[in-house]
Amino acid sequence: MKPIQVGLLGIGTVGSGVFNVLQRNQDEISRRAGRGIEIAMVADLDVERAKSVVGSNVQVVNDARAVIANPDIDIVIELIGGYGVAKALVLEAIAAGKHVVTANKALLAVHGTEIFAAASAKGVMVAFEAAVAGGIPIIKALREGLTANRIQWIAGIINGTTNFILSEMRDKGLDFEVVLKEAQRLGYAEADPTFDIEGVDAAHKATIMSAIAFGIPVQFDKAYVEGITKLGAADIKYAEQLGYRIKLLGITKRAERFDATGKPVGGIELRVHPSLVPSKRLIANVEGAMNAVVVQGDAVGTTLYYGKGAGSEPTASAVIADLVDIARLHTADPEHRVPHLAFQPHTLTDAMG
Ligand code: HSE
Repeated sequence: MKPIQVGLLGIGTVGSGVFNVLQRNQDEISRRAGRGIEIAMVADLDVERAKSVVGSNVQVVNDARAVIANPDIDIVIELIGGYGVAKALVLEAIAAGKHVVTANKALLAVHGTEIFAAASAKGVMVAFEAAVAGGIPIIKALREGLTANRIQWIAGIINGTTNFILSEMRDKGLDFEVVLKEAQRLGYAEADPTFDIEGVDAAHKATIMSAIAFGIPVQFDKAYVEGITKLGAADIKYAEQLGYRIKLLGITKRAERFDATGKPVGGIELRVHPSLVPSKRLIANVEGAMNAVVVQGDAVGTTLYYGKGAGSEPTASAVIADLVDIARLHTADPEHRVPHLAFQPHTLTDAMG
C-alpha cells in the first residue's frame, strides 16, 4: 500500500524531531501503522533551513497553502503555533478534507470547539497528543486506557519552564530572571515566555484535559490562571521548612457542590496556580523541566504519568503516535486496525541461555 502522505507546516524544533524520528524508526513505525508514513512536503518561511533538515528528496515551499492545496497530501501537521495563521490553516486543511495533527495547545484551548466541529462535519480527524505534556501519552491514557472510569480529578505539572524555574530557584538559590533566561536558552519556553510564567500555557493544557476527561467543551476563558511571577526565594524556602514544595499545578476536578435544598449540583473546576505539595509526594519530586500528571478515576484509583513535556524528539514522539493512529485507520489491512496484532514474526531470545 502506498505510504500515507504527510505535509508539514513549520519545521523548527519539533518538526525536525518528527522528520528525524520518522527516518530513524521507519521500519517499526510502518509495521505498527500497517503502511509507510512519508513526509512528502514541507512549508516553512525559512526554506533553506528546512532543506538543510529534510534534504533534496522532500519538496520544500514557503507557502503553507501550497501544502493544503496538494491533493496527494492525506495529513497536515500544524507546528506553527499561536491562534492567528495557525487557526486559518487548520480550518483550511480540514475544509480540504485533510486530517490534521497539531501540537498547538493554545489554538485548541481557545478555538477547539470550532475546530472539532469543522472536523466532525468533514469526517476528518484532528489529533493532538503532542499538545499536552509533550511526550507523555496523556491524551491516549484519558481516552483509551482510562475510558472505563468516571474521572474525579486531574492534577499536573504541565509546564516544564516553570517547573525548571522553581527547581533551580530552590536547589541553587538562583534568581527568577536568571533561570528564565536559561529555560529559554534550553528551548523549553514558549515564544512569548509570559505564557509560561503567568500560567497560561499550563491552563491551555489543563483546559484540553478537562474537556476530554469530563466531556465538556473547551473553556479556557473560564479557567482561573495564576503564574509564578509573584513567588520569591523566601516563599520557596519557607515552604521547604514546613515540609512542602511549591509546584505550579494545573487542576481540573468535579466540584461537589450542593444547592440550597441540599441537592448535588454539577460543575467542573479548572485552575492553574502555585500549590503547596507535601515533599514526600511523588509529584513534589518532579524536578527540572519534567512533567507529571496524576489522574484519579473511580475504578482505577490514582495513576501517575511522568516524562518530558517539551523538546524536539519527546514532542515528535507524540506527533508520530497521532500519525500512526490515522494511518492505521486508513490501511487496507484490517489486522493493523488493532495495534497489538502488528507483531514481527521474531521468536523470543531465550533469556536463560
Ligand atoms: N513552554 C512549554 C513548557 C513547552 O515549558 O512546558 C511545551 O508545551
